[in-house]
Amino acid sequence: NVGNSTNIAWHDCPVGKPERQKLLKQKGCVIWITGLSGSGKSTLACGLSRELHMRGYLTYVLDGDNIRHGLNKDLSFKAEDRAENIRRIGEVAKLFADAGVICIASLISPYRIDRDACRAMIPDSAFIEVFMDIPLEICEARDAKGLYKLARSGKIKGFTGVDDPYEAPFKSEILIAPTNGICPSPDSMVKQVISYLDENEFLE
Ligand code: PPS
Repeated sequence: NVGNSTNIAWHDCPVGKPERQKLLKQKGCVIWITGLSGSGKSTLACGLSRELHMRGYLTYVLDGDNIRHGLNKDLSFKAEDRAENIRRIGEVAKLFADAGVICIASLISPYRIDRDACRAMIPDSAFIEVFMDIPLEICEARDAKGLYKLARSGKIKGFTGVDDPYEAPFKSEILIAPTNGICPSPDSMVKQVISYLDENEFLE
């Protein structure tokens, strides 16, 4: 039995991940970008996707905000729904990685236990966590969507970083952080991730 499903079996197909990776000439993986709203997750996800695409790699971005328009539109921002949001995106990311795609997941994913559960479901050590370690004050000063303002005035309840928790990773594969108070540019964030992928042989 799996969850609430009974009498089910697993079927393997002759065309598997190794065959697909060979065809695509790349390794399927999950680049999981976590951090506060306004920390630059989507900017990095899109920049990375564009750069990898230009270099001939197949990528796909799973953006929390976007997935909440469809697959996850039944979920709120209370803790159990955030956990389910992360779990579902983890499962979808796993399918993309299995398809041989470089999957870039970009969502706040505030709870360590949920992110670690996603890490545990991705085989071949192909889960790369990127922590956007940008201080709340900077994210709030950016406030591109005006949501921090609404949260501070009490019009949004349970906003991450304001009146809802964010648990930073203990040890992420990649740390994006300001240097001497200056945030890295979009280009330098992309370069940092590409260097990691190169050094760890994710790119051929
Ligand atoms: S989570 O925590 O991983 O389930 O969140 P995620 O799916 O990434 O969605 C975050 C985006 O939703 C908007 N938003 C909120 N964020 C945090 N807390 C609350 N209460 C909230 N309500 C709406 C916000 O635009 C987030 O987008 P980003 O891209 O992070 O700014």
